[in-house]
Amino acid sequence: MSKQRIIPATDLAGVLKTLLDEITHDRLFVLTDEHTATLCLPLLAEVVGDAHSIVIPAGDDNKHVDSLCHVWSELSAHGATRHSLLINVGGGMVTDLGGFAAATFKRGIACINVPTTLLAMVDAAVGGKTGINLHSLKNEVGAFYPAEAVVVSSQFLHTLDMPNLVSGFAEMLKHGLISTEEHWAQLMRYDLNAPDLNALQPLIMESIHTKEHIVEQDPTEKNIRKALNLGHTLGHAFETLAMRRGAPCLHGYAVAWGLIGELYLSHVREGFPIDKLRQTVAFIKEVYGTFDFTCKDYEELYALMQHDKKNVGATINFTLLGGIGDIRINRTATKEEIFEMLDFVREC
Ligand code: GLY
Repeated sequence: MSKQRIIPATDLAGVLKTLLDEITHDRLFVLTDEHTATLCLPLLAEVVGDAHSIVIPAGDDNKHVDSLCHVWSELSAHGATRHSLLINVGGGMVTDLGGFAAATFKRGIACINVPTTLLAMVDAAVGGKTGINLHSLKNEVGAFYPAEAVVVSSQFLHTLDMPNLVSGFAEMLKHGLISTEEHWAQLMRYDLNAPDLNALQPLIMESIHTKEHIVEQDPTEKNIRKALNLGHTLGHAFETLAMRRGAPCLHGYAVAWGLIGELYLSHVREGFPIDKLRQTVAFIKEVYGTFDFTCKDYEELYALMQHDKKNVGATINFTLLGGIGDIRINRTATKEEIFEMLDFVREC
């Protein structure tokens, strides 16, 4: 799988113009959702003005086959060929779905990702995972299909609300934990109550490079890419429980709460240092608050973790840490240990 070019862009229009000159294509298409069509596309208008615009409804609920079918139909109806280029402008929903449309249309056309949320910049738009949801199953159908380039512009961060900024930061926190003490400490010092978006830019690039470095070694998640699942086994269970209760939470919040539990398990099982556990937990509690659940929810959370698609068979698979950057993949835990982990999350 070819490596994606990650391009930090202070001059977004200029960078895109150069890319469009470099990537040979016959027709140009731009995919947005109804939010990014009005909030973000105008920033690119001078470069992509002649492109055919495809707009899909916003929100993860719309990351399904009907929206995908709409993108395929628009490409087909407006003369897209194997040599056409699709630019995906949006959050993870748009880059995932647009990437999958590009992967499948005429067996693969080139695409560029222009992520507009922090979560998409540091995670979804980078690393080549594309896909759609099937019924209530997230990312059930998809492909590994890296974009030609990912253009990262902090200009879009100004259009983001606070909860979405905070949500994206959780994936950065995860990248800090799986990389170096220095990067983790930089993130711990970042003040999310008064976010300085200029100071965030180098942290975003470092975060993306952490992910890229891992994906380069294992693009299809056979091995070390599982490091990127830290916090997600429990995090996905919290996310689904919140959705079932009719009070969905943003993905990053669920990941942050998942990190609390999985760092505790890392401490118990792998000797993750207690001071780093305390510091990370205090940071998460202050920024993300707590997830409201009781011991009556334990069985349901456990069942959700058992159904995680990262598992092999019925054994729950965790990525844990022996320390910051000391990654231990394919770890398991007993039901008792998992319930203890839930106690810790609830009590801390
Ligand atoms: N979001 C985790 C990964 O890309 O592997």
